[in-house]
Amino acid sequence: MKDTAYFKNWQQLKQHRDGLRGKTLKDLFAGDKERFGKMSIALPGILVDFSKNFANDDTLAILASLASEAGVETARNEMLRGGKINSTESRAVLHTALRAPKGKAVNVDGKNVVTDVHTVLDAMRKFTDAVRDGKWRGQSGDEITDIVNIGIGGSSLGPQLVTHALAPFHHKRLTAHFVANVEASDLARTLAKLSPETTLFIVASKTFTTAETMQNAHIARDWLLTHYKDEAAVAKHFVAASTNTEAVEKFGIAPDNMFPFWDWVGGRYSVWSAIGLSVMLMIGADKFAEFLAGAHEMDEHFKTAPIEQNIPALMALLGVWYRNFMDYPAYAVIPYNACLGRLSAFLQQLDMESNGKGVTREGQPVTTPTGPMVFGEPGTDSQHSFFQWLHQGTSTVPVDFIAAVKTPYGNRDQQTMLLANMFAQSEALMTGKENKAEPHRNFLGNRPSTTILLDELTPRTLGMLLAMNEHKVFVQGLIWGINSFDQWGVELGKVLAKTLESEIKAGKPGAHDGSTLGLLEYISRKKI
Ligand code: F6P
Repeated sequence: MKDTAYFKNWQQLKQHRDGLRGKTLKDLFAGDKERFGKMSIALPGILVDFSKNFANDDTLAILASLASEAGVETARNEMLRGGKINSTESRAVLHTALRAPKGKAVNVDGKNVVTDVHTVLDAMRKFTDAVRDGKWRGQSGDEITDIVNIGIGGSSLGPQLVTHALAPFHHKRLTAHFVANVEASDLARTLAKLSPETTLFIVASKTFTTAETMQNAHIARDWLLTHYKDEAAVAKHFVAASTNTEAVEKFGIAPDNMFPFWDWVGGRYSVWSAIGLSVMLMIGADKFAEFLAGAHEMDEHFKTAPIEQNIPALMALLGVWYRNFMDYPAYAVIPYNACLGRLSAFLQQLDMESNGKGVTREGQPVTTPTGPMVFGEPGTDSQHSFFQWLHQGTSTVPVDFIAAVKTPYGNRDQQTMLLANMFAQSEALMTGKENKAEPHRNFLGNRPSTTILLDELTPRTLGMLLAMNEHKVFVQGLIWGINSFDQWGVELGKVLAKTLESEIKAGKPGAHDGSTLGLLEYISRKKI
């Protein structure tokens, strides 16, 4: 592939940026009365307002041509048809097949994977119905009241986010818990609240080898068996979501209690698969189907809408514009909804694990900056923490503001105040306020943002929101020429941790740098 920086449109964007110098967002609005209408896109149940972004018609036209020059449409079709676009692992990338309706065909190595997807969804439905209806009972005959998802990264963040986001739809008897960290308090504090008779553990791990997850799963198993002293209890209290049947069986979970998925599902794209079991247990199979259907609607939009009207593509292109032409190193995600409290953590993995890469698909060093840093916390809380920095700090950071127009929690005054605050922030960031007499009260403004309004936060609109971000990240990776679907950058630390763990256990440090040796010596004196 051609080096990104040598794209014709890349050069054109540089000239275009230089031509825009001196213009402000306010100028762009003043010069185009139709701007909101032209730069916002509505799909049923969702509105995305791009108009507070630093772009005019020409910017969007050149960015759209850049997408074509980078082969976005061709690569998108290749992904959707099951091509092995994850080149370093020789795998297809088919999270879209996880939300394809029954009857659709997507083939990998001559096999229609959509059939397998629905077989597993049906098994998940059967199991979750049994738990929710009280037919699935624990070893002592009690109904399940607590579900503990033991998993990390994509095997935790997606289920956590979606479960929290859809709290109004939860089954009244059930509570979900998520244990990810190997730091002991995460599991210990969770177990302290639970009773073995009524707890169901889901060991969620694509590989079933992730060190933290396996460690926690074994401790949870010991906790259960300390109570029951009978291995048979494991079958009633443990299930797994994984691609690794052999390791699941070795752990002691029967094949009947394993919900499989496939190597073409990336960890950070796996909430739509069996990894979403905790979500299905909490909201029920019908609502989970709505979640998948929402994502599928977004897949269809991504597949069919022209780039200029394509929400994920526009999000991606504006991100490239900011990262590569405006030198903005980061973006913030601010959901004005406590239920979306884990959204920025989820997007951090999605974006930063996908596009935090320094070599191209051909193995050459990239010549342009790639994925930005992602951060955020819900508003209005974050207005009282880091918004000072967004308004008056020396870096410009584009913001995605996200809210639901209606709330099921019913207090209209709170909701009005909430939305007013969100609009106030994006307006303040854009328009600023000059104060020459008191420079500390001066707001430079001209800080861009995108506003995403969901009519309501439902399984369907949440599915749309997440799929939109997945496709955005994909398009950006294509433009930067990187593989968004591997994560080799996490390997080195894992290998070193294993070595260090055995050295600490043996009390014999190996060859390390002076700092690491000093730290090893310190903990050996203090005793773990
Ligand atoms: O270490 C990174 C990672 O591989 C993520 O990509 C993944 O989501 C997470 O670990 C968990 O992996 P697994 O589901 O195999 O336990």
